[in-house]
Amino acid sequence: MESKRTNFGSKVGAVLAAAGSAIGLGNVWRFPYETGQNGGAAFLVIYLACIIIVGVPLMVAEFAVGRRSRTNNFRAFPVLGAKGAWRYVGFLCVLTGWLILCYYAVVLGWTLEYVFQAGSNGLAGKTAEQYTADFSTFVSDPVRPLIYLFIAVLFTLGVVVMGVQKGIERASKVMMPMLFIFILILVFCSLSLPGAKKGVDYLLNPDFSAVHPSTFLAAMGQAFFSLSIGMGCLCTYASYFPREANLFGNALNIAGIDTIIAILSGLIIFPAAYSVGIEPGSGASLVFITLPNVFYQAFDGLPWLAYAFSLMFYLLLSMAALTSAISLLEPPTSLLSEEFHISRRTAALLATSLVIVLGTACSLSMGVWGDFKLFGLNLFDFFDFATAKIMLPIGGLFTALFVGWKMNKKALLTELSNNRTLPQWLVRMFYLLIKYLLPLAIILIFLNELGVFGF
Ligand code: PFF
Repeated sequence: MESKRTNFGSKVGAVLAAAGSAIGLGNVWRFPYETGQNGGAAFLVIYLACIIIVGVPLMVAEFAVGRRSRTNNFRAFPVLGAKGAWRYVGFLCVLTGWLILCYYAVVLGWTLEYVFQAGSNGLAGKTAEQYTADFSTFVSDPVRPLIYLFIAVLFTLGVVVMGVQKGIERASKVMMPMLFIFILILVFCSLSLPGAKKGVDYLLNPDFSAVHPSTFLAAMGQAFFSLSIGMGCLCTYASYFPREANLFGNALNIAGIDTIIAILSGLIIFPAAYSVGIEPGSGASLVFITLPNVFYQAFDGLPWLAYAFSLMFYLLLSMAALTSAISLLEPPTSLLSEEFHISRRTAALLATSLVIVLGTACSLSMGVWGDFKLFGLNLFDFFDFATAKIMLPIGGLFTALFVGWKMNKKALLTELSNNRTLPQWLVRMFYLLIKYLLPLAIILIFLNELGVFGF
């Protein structure tokens, strides 16, 4: 069975792909936007706590499920002994990721438009107001974002159909370090803008009076989203991990890099937003209207440098988004192909069809279908809310409960200790964390959202 599955070419391949999945629009686009809508630094503090208390342990739990079961996320739970409703936890996770892809692909499409804009010099010589107006004209257009959505989906499909080893591994290896260097340079550029200090304060000086009950759920949702947990994606990747891969080490490294990139993105966006007078709470448009200002103001007088730099940056960002999108398409693809005994190609096509239909609806909801609301939100925001803030934490909660309470303890401890190579105390501590603290934290955050504690 094991030998029949497509496998990663090198040991680091699967781990790199997991990092490629984590790092994406969640860091550069969604983190600053959620931080901006939830009051800045106080959100960051709660976010960091969520990463440590919920994120890392859950990531390890998902790795353990995937590596132990060596199968797709849907089958993993029954393979590990799940009975009754527990058998469907994996399905819930895969479904969540699938739905996320529907609007993630829309935003990936936006980044492709910005690659095009940067490449055709369409970003040069504009004011902050023009960037804002251009963005809203673009996203509300009934045709253009859809073309980019289709391109985004086709790219994603292409890589997934090429197979795990060739497609994903190759894509993940080169671009991430380059993106990191670009982000570092942009931080310096942004910090050098006039009035940048206010933005730094906004991100780093917590004001806890800005915290609402919903801030906790937003922070936890962002932690799930950014680390790619609660949706069966890491689990599917870990089913390709070698037996000796260090689950803790990998989880810590991935969470660490992911968080650093998110904070650095904040350090680009907020100083620039304050410098040019853009509201930090501008929502989904924040990154797209702020970044062009950074390129063209920081490299003022050097238009060719601004041109080259913005083009490269958007290219790298779309690559990072692509590796995440691939990881969102991978679980439904392997589920459909392994469960229904169809080829990966057909499975990926089926999975993509749903993304095209729902992605189109999400994209149009930013413009012509904007009046259609669910619970007061347009479709795009509704998908984001329902998946990141409801479905992901529920999937994560059930994964944690299953791993802590239902999975064979000996098997779990063997996985957690990486075949007994880690010290007992560390393994025990993580076991207790997964069993008690993790589910408790998620439940408390939900209860708090319902107003039970009034924080
Ligand atoms: N973690 C990715 C990001 O931060 O962009 C998004 C993502 C990928 C979410 C894969 C969920 C997932 F399964």
